[in-house]
Amino acid sequence: MRADRLDDEVLLRVAKKTWEQDDPRERDGSAFEITSPKGGSRLRRWLIAILIFLFVSLVAINSFTIDQLRIARLGHVSNQDNNTQHFMGGPKLNPATGYLVRNKGCRIPALDPFDPAIRRYVHKEKPIVCDFGNNLPLVESNDSHIFVNPEARGFYYNKDERVKCCWREFWREANNDESVTFAKDCNYFEEWAIVTAEFIKVECTKKNEKIYRDYHAFVPHKPQVESRCQKKLDTRKDVSPLSVLIVGLDSISRMNFHRMMPKTVEALRKLEAVEMLGYNKVGDNTYPNIVPVLSGLSQEELVGRCWDNRKKPFDECPFLWKNFSASGYRTIFGEDACEMTTFNYLKPGFKKQPTDYYLRPYCIAAEHDIGNTHKLNADICLGTRKNFDNLLNYTRKVINSFAEDPYFAFFWQSSLTHDFFNFPQLGDESYRQFFEYVGRDDLLMNTALVIMSDHGMRWGDFRQTYQGRLEGSLPFVFLVLPKWWRKRFPVAWANLHRNTRSLTTPFDLHETLLDILHPENLREMNLKNRTNILGSYNGENIPRGISWFLPVPDHRTCTTAGIPGHWCMCHDSRNVSLNDPDLQGILDFFLQELNRMLADYRQCAVLKLKSLMDAKVWTGKIEADDKKAPWTDYTISIQTYPGDAIFEGSIRNRFDNSSNSNNSSNTKELLGSISRLNTYGKQSACVDDFNMRLYCYCL
Ligand SMILES: *[C@@H]1O[C@H](CO)[C@@H](O)[C@H](O)[C@H]1NC(C)=O
Ligand SMILES: *[C@@H]1O[C@H](CO)[C@@H](O)[C@H](O)[C@H]1NC(C)=O
Ligand SMILES: *[C@@H]1O[C@H](CO)[C@@H](O)[C@H](O)[C@H]1NC(C)=O
Ligand SMILES: *[C@@H]1O[C@H](CO)[C@@H](O)[C@H](O)[C@H]1NC(C)=O
Ligand SMILES: *[C@@H]1O[C@H](CO)[C@@H](O)[C@H](O)[C@H]1NC(C)=O
Ligand SMILES: *[C@@H]1O[C@H](CO)[C@@H](O)[C@H](O)[C@H]1NC(C)=O
Ligand SMILES: *[C@@H]1O[C@H](CO)[C@@H](O)[C@H](O)[C@H]1NC(C)=O
Ligand SMILES: *[C@@H]1O[C@H](CO)[C@@H](O)[C@H](O)[C@H]1NC(C)=O
Ligand SMILES: *[C@@H]1O[C@H](CO)[C@@H](O)[C@H](O)[C@H]1NC(C)=O
Repeated sequence: MRADRLDDEVLLRVAKKTWEQDDPRERDGSAFEITSPKGGSRLRRWLIAILIFLFVSLVAINSFTIDQLRIARLGHVSNQDNNTQHFMGGPKLNPATGYLVRNKGCRIPALDPFDPAIRRYVHKEKPIVCDFGNNLPLVESNDSHIFVNPEARGFYYNKDERVKCCWREFWREANNDESVTFAKDCNYFEEWAIVTAEFIKVECTKKNEKIYRDYHAFVPHKPQVESRCQKKLDTRKDVSPLSVLIVGLDSISRMNFHRMMPKTVEALRKLEAVEMLGYNKVGDNTYPNIVPVLSGLSQEELVGRCWDNRKKPFDECPFLWKNFSASGYRTIFGEDACEMTTFNYLKPGFKKQPTDYYLRPYCIAAEHDIGNTHKLNADICLGTRKNFDNLLNYTRKVINSFAEDPYFAFFWQSSLTHDFFNFPQLGDESYRQFFEYVGRDDLLMNTALVIMSDHGMRWGDFRQTYQGRLEGSLPFVFLVLPKWWRKRFPVAWANLHRNTRSLTTPFDLHETLLDILHPENLREMNLKNRTNILGSYNGENIPRGISWFLPVPDHRTCTTAGIPGHWCMCHDSRNVSLNDPDLQGILDFFLQELNRMLADYRQCAVLKLKSLMDAKVWTGKIEADDKKAPWTDYTISIQTYPGDAIFEGSIRNRFDNSSNSNNSSNTKELLGSISRLNTYGKQSACVDDFNMRLYCYCL
């Protein structure tokens, strides 16, 4: 039984560490333990750390290869494996805590996407009918051809009529983000044509009358780009570089993504995507949340660095695609809804084309000509196609074209999702198909896929609610990494997992993408060094952006993470006087829950309150003009007898003002499991269940 005893010992220590909440230098088990800069008995800590590390790695290897990344959906998945929860970093990986993030620096409550209070904002949308009609487009394209769709013909002309179609190339006007130049020649074709141009306009005429206009974008290999990439690609690297594919959807909170796009979420789950539950926006709208991803800078810092004057284009700014380009990657940047794209809305965009492939000229030409179904801010349709579908098809072409070659692609869709809370549901099927397609054809063998948003809905009825306010600051982000890569970088992978329940930001995503560009930084030795360095910073100086392949410190706060208070969804805690009369109900409830758990175990004593040791209340930073949070969360520590166990638990107290109720009728709910803060020794030897050992005092 030696092995068992060792396990128990380690377990207890891991557990103890996790529970020692009050010492800010103590951090729970990441893949590498961060060593304390000051620390009393460093040697002992090291030994423990090594032990824990060995053990955690073992468990990590086991649980990660077997149970690859079930997405922690909505933050409260039923916990299928009680044990790993205790090994793998305590509360943070415990999916059932009532919090998305629950650590020293930050708590973000987990909400129910279908909470009755917000149900009235959710409804089923009718499918969109384009102003141009919903006919099939007459001329379709695939990766290399355009062709007349025989099924569509009947909508446009009769069999006996003679219709002529031609395609004409167009391109970005030099040094101008707003206009394009069309070629003079129009190339006539019958059924189909091979297209070598990047952007084309298609026109069909019947008896000199234009009956059809359409636009297509392709991804031809460009000789200059290819030769640069050949030259720059460092073939000496022992790990083949991962491509980066970022698929952005504007204005969708994490919760709304799950609410509106469940099929897409399921497709991502099949790709074993990792979801960052504590991703908090750092600015109001798209631009200040994208700038940090692409540059690692805040919007204010970008001004100082390269954009000192509002008329100046963004050409000199250090956007990430430049780093990838310099390392032999093809670069692609594509957005729809070109009236309000990230760098052009009330801003001057780029003078020189920023990336090797740049969709804006296409967007300008196509939307100005055949954009339609304009709602609020964007054209939802291009001809009879949905604008977002079209962008997805272009994304497919990029993936197909560069399946074998390193590329960095950043796509941002706004046309469908920018303005309407319920509209994402209209894209669910298309995005599902897209992710199934890339999964089925193994198109992500050498690609890191990021699918993300910038923030939640910023206006409307829903935004007025407390939940709406929380959701507004918490967009979704998922990462998909190839299987071989995960095996190659197990520690980075384990850290990524651990960070799913950390407070994270767009600044971190930037660092994470840089790590993908420089995989040598992810080798175990380097990671260990970087982890130690990260651990050597005390509270206030931890770096703002932290790669998700490193353990994000537990004591990270919104301030150190660069999240302005207004957008910060971490709730602050404050001490409650132990004499506060409000606590009585909370205490009673806590004891009742504790004993309810023990009720099935007759060998365990009924626990009674010995003392209330500590009580905190978690308060939201709710501004005066906002509604009050509809609940208060308390965290209390108590000592019980017999056995003198110390327990800590969190209780959510919901205010129920629906009837003539009074305080005692408020509903209370235990958030997550109850922690045991002192050791239990042999007190609970009479129960086998690992969990119950924490609570039972054997009679
Ligand atoms: C996990 O623990 C809970 C009690 O906390 C228990 O109900 C459940 O059956 C356990 N699950 C497994 C898989 O052991
Ligand atoms: C593209 O369409 C053309 C014309 O219909 C067809 O000949 C070609 O095989 C298609 N290519 C692909 C890759 O599907
Ligand atoms: C990325 O490129 C910028 C210049 O655009 C450079 O200043 C920066 O050091 C590069 N970062 C890395 C990690 O290569
Ligand atoms: C996208 O491409 C597929 C074929 O690859 C085509 O069937 C579909 O109609 C296209 N959708 C749009 C909106 O262009
Ligand atoms: C790790 O850091 C130490 C000093 O802190 C240095 O001597 C060593 O070379 C580093 N190792 C690697 C692999 O970078
Ligand atoms: C809260 O109470 C704990 C002891 O229970 C104490 O250590 C801590 O300093 C208090 N915090 C504040 C802000 O008063
Ligand atoms: C309950 O509280 C909400 C928010 O404070 C308020 O709008 C509502 O009128 C209250 N209902 C009753 C019945 O007091
Ligand atoms: C308030 O709660 C007390 C019990 O604590 C109960 O006796 C009383 O009837 C309640 N009042 C109302 C208005 O519900
Ligand atoms: C409920 O509790 C609060 C805070 O202790 C108190 O101010 C309020 O008067 C109480 N309401 C009722 C109906 O007892």
